[in-house]
Amino acid sequence: MENKKVIAVVGATGAQGGGLVRAILADPNGGFACRAITRDPSKDQARALAGKGADVVKADLDDVDSLKKAFAGAYGAYCVTNFWEHFSGEKEKAQAKNLAEAARTAGLKHVIWSTLEDTRKLMAPSDTRMPMLQEKYRVPHFDAKHEADAYFAGLPVTYLVTSFYWDNLYAFGLGPKKGDDGVYTWAFPMGDKRLAGIAVEDIGKVAYGIFKAGTQYIGKTVGIVGENLTLDQMSEKLSKGLGIVVKYHAVEADAYRGFGFPGADEMGNMFQVYRDFEREVLGARSIEVTRSLNPSLQTFDDWLAKNKSKIPLA
Ligand SMILES: NC(=O)c1ccc[n+]([C@@H]2O[C@H](COP(=O)([O-])OP(=O)(O)OC[C@H]3O[C@@H](n4cnc5c(N)ncnc54)[C@H](OP(=O)(O)O)[C@@H]3O)[C@@H](O)[C@H]2O)c1
Repeated sequence: MENKKVIAVVGATGAQGGGLVRAILADPNGGFACRAITRDPSKDQARALAGKGADVVKADLDDVDSLKKAFAGAYGAYCVTNFWEHFSGEKEKAQAKNLAEAARTAGLKHVIWSTLEDTRKLMAPSDTRMPMLQEKYRVPHFDAKHEADAYFAGLPVTYLVTSFYWDNLYAFGLGPKKGDDGVYTWAFPMGDKRLAGIAVEDIGKVAYGIFKAGTQYIGKTVGIVGENLTLDQMSEKLSKGLGIVVKYHAVEADAYRGFGFPGADEMGNMFQVYRDFEREVLGARSIEVTRSLNPSLQTFDDWLAKNKSKIPLA
């Protein structure tokens, strides 16, 4: 343990960080050890990580001193914020600022910042195809993360640009819903364009690959994706894999933003970006690079075979 490089993993009890913790623990001779950060070390997920050999440490993204303590003596850190806990671009930036400050104070040798692109660069401020949200963002959880990139400047950082998790189908309520006729339907403002998707477990494995690569990815932006699929292709795969009939409805973005669930406007803008700027979004992510960092990268079919029992079919 003494000679191992310690990675402090923010979000260790969650999807991205959890994948990295599992990747580190699955490779006991890999030269890395894991410090799992949570606000609540007594919660079940945190206890489970401790049971598997992670050093569980308490810290809060809103408390920079707690992060400084949690990062002290580590080699590296995986930094992720959770927009969906508060829905605020400003809060996400403040938390990222705390992460960068703590990384600087601890003198970390390698930081991975889980970011996304600035969607405002894709259209002029006068473009009326989608509303501005929270006054200055098109897609707050993308744009705020990109703005936060600046806090990490000067650190030995890798900017990790992630993709839509297929796990949203069971974890975020985005799976197809059964109608009275027994047909499962889902609606997105994606037209016939491809969605850059990934199994969330693979994000952590890629992050581990980046740490293992030493200095190779420091100062670089790495855009990752498992497979780019249209919603019709995903529907066909779901139909086959789950033994049901899944039909996709391409709705207008304005209609989706009006669906009324919390974050519908944000998600409507996000899917519209994926649709209207397919070339740019897909161009910012590389399956080849992702697979080189994580040779066990899953396709949608691979992911479905492993996760189908989690998708609610009621
Ligand atoms: N869903 C998608 O398709 C998708 C795609 C790309 C990017 N993203 C981004 O992914 C991020 C969320 O990551 P995730 O999916 O891994 O999250 P998650 O599974 O919901 O877990 C959230 C994690 O963040 C930690 N956390 C939240 N607030 C914290 C705080 N104040 N202090 C310390 N830890 C805190 C939680 O730890 P404790 O509760 O244990 O403290 C938990 O481990 C979001 O910002 C989202 O924009 C999502």
